[in-house]
Amino acid sequence: MMSLSGHSVYPHDVLAVICLLTVSQAYVNVALNKPAYQQYPYSPGDDTYKATNAVDGRKSDLSMDGGQCSVSNDRQTATWWVNLSNIHSIHHITIYFRTDHHQWGPDDELTLYFLGFSVYVSNTTDRLQGTLCFKDNTFTRATIPAVFTTTCPVHGQYVIYYNERLPGVTYPDEYSDDVSNDLCEVEVYGCPATGNFGSNCSVPCSDVNCQYCHIETGTCQGCKPGYKGHRCEMGCAGGTYGAGCKETCGHCRDANQCSINNGTCLTGCDAGFKGNLCRTA
Ligand SMILES: *[C@@H]1O[C@H](CO)[C@@H](O)[C@H](O)[C@H]1NC(C)=O
Ligand SMILES: *[C@@H]1O[C@H](CO)[C@@H](O)[C@H](O)[C@H]1NC(C)=O
Ligand SMILES: *[C@@H]1O[C@H](CO)[C@@H](O)[C@H](O)[C@H]1NC(C)=O
Ligand SMILES: *[C@@H]1O[C@H](CO)[C@@H](O)[C@H](O)[C@H]1NC(C)=O
Repeated sequence: MMSLSGHSVYPHDVLAVICLLTVSQAYVNVALNKPAYQQYPYSPGDDTYKATNAVDGRKSDLSMDGGQCSVSNDRQTATWWVNLSNIHSIHHITIYFRTDHHQWGPDDELTLYFLGFSVYVSNTTDRLQGTLCFKDNTFTRATIPAVFTTTCPVHGQYVIYYNERLPGVTYPDEYSDDVSNDLCEVEVYGCPATGNFGSNCSVPCSDVNCQYCHIETGTCQGCKPGYKGHRCEMGCAGGTYGAGCKETCGHCRDANQCSINNGTCLTGCDAGFKGNLCRTA
């Protein structure tokens, strides 16, 4: 099939194989088609502007009315988030801003609505309980990119975009008076399941009982329920169980004999108690 002259090699097949290999080694977009929310939706109920447009995988039309962007009203704050359904190991986040297909840059009217934005990863919808991945303090209308990427190797369930123009605060001259969400796509690249790391998400965390390890280094950042210690080397003890050993066994027949994973009493309940956890009198 192949000839050394090179002309009868199938260049498309070779390209396809190379592409497949490239894709299989990359992180996956764990935000794709997940539930999303935005504060102050523009024209509530109109799908053209809904929050989930920013996680629908479409980014060919970056205009307001193209039906591919999440658009909110101009207000003092703008909040948008995606719910990844459960805690994910994240590597980086890429945001496609609405451009209206204008020449992006200093003369564009839209850029000033994005200046000062921040990106958080949180385990709740409250950004302040999470990790701040990025806060813009330096972009100008001339330098803010139309497609923005921030590396944020943490674990979390919600990725939150936030911006504000609060009364009494002095902002740089070129900032807009109000802010809005004008997000056409938010891609959250990471691993589809926890307990693994590496660019293929295929290497198990170095410590056996580690559930959340650093996506690049594998260093443990959180143990499976029932374990504690820097390397999750210790089982819960003294009648405790669960995530972080923060739960206390119920009224088990043999004091403190409960499953360190889920609290089930291993030898049954004390007289007068019932249920798996022996908490019901
Ligand atoms: C996020 O998704 C999870 C899993 O579907 C669900 O249990 C949780 O209620 C959702 N959170 C919000 C704020 O809707
Ligand atoms: C979310 O919870 C996991 C497990 O407890 C923890 O390892 C992680 O640091 C939390 N993420 C954030 C952003 O607080
Ligand atoms: C990722 O997968 C590719 C192809 O299967 C393999 O060659 C590579 O060594 C893997 N990388 C890691 C970090 O596991
Ligand atoms: C609780 O964990 C034990 C092992 O520690 C297992 O045998 C049992 O099936 C678990 N129970 C539930 C309700 O998950």
